[in-house]
Amino acid sequence: MAGLLTVLMAVVVVTSVMGAIHPPSNVETIDPTTLHLSGEFVESNLGTAQEPDGSLTARLVADQYAFVPNCVKLAVDTPVKFRLTSVDVVHGFLLPTTNVNTMVVPGYVAEVRTRFTRPGIYRMPCNEFCGNGHHGMWTHVVVVPKQQFPALAATERTSCVQQ
Ligand code: CUA
Repeated sequence: MAGLLTVLMAVVVVTSVMGAIHPPSNVETIDPTTLHLSGEFVESNLGTAQEPDGSLTARLVADQYAFVPNCVKLAVDTPVKFRLTSVDVVHGFLLPTTNVNTMVVPGYVAEVRTRFTRPGIYRMPCNEFCGNGHHGMWTHVVVVPKQQFPALAATERTSCVQQ
């Protein structure tokens, strides 16, 4: 009995420590205090970028209580890579009916790869309780037919945020 208890306690301790220090979606680290100053997640680099191979990369920053940008434009039948990070607390990014579901943890870059098979508007509530405004934190992903997606230069970014 005592041996069994010891083994079970050891399993709990080891898995919690191993799981907690390695967020499951990604182990790429980033300094959340300087996101706005330089690097991949400066404001001008957020939104959708087109890679040389034609695939798309969408970068978002999560904070209390919004995703930036709050509307992401993508093309159907195209490889898509989401890269997200948080400036404050843990948020969640989940697109219903797709494989996209990740925690967005400050200090880490969350990366998810997918491919949309149908055009449409995918609404995306924050999926991790992050404070009093959690219920109002949401964004949406608009997937358009390929011919409606603009060709982007290497430095250009696009979104569907209404100006
Ligand atoms: Cu952000 Cu809940």
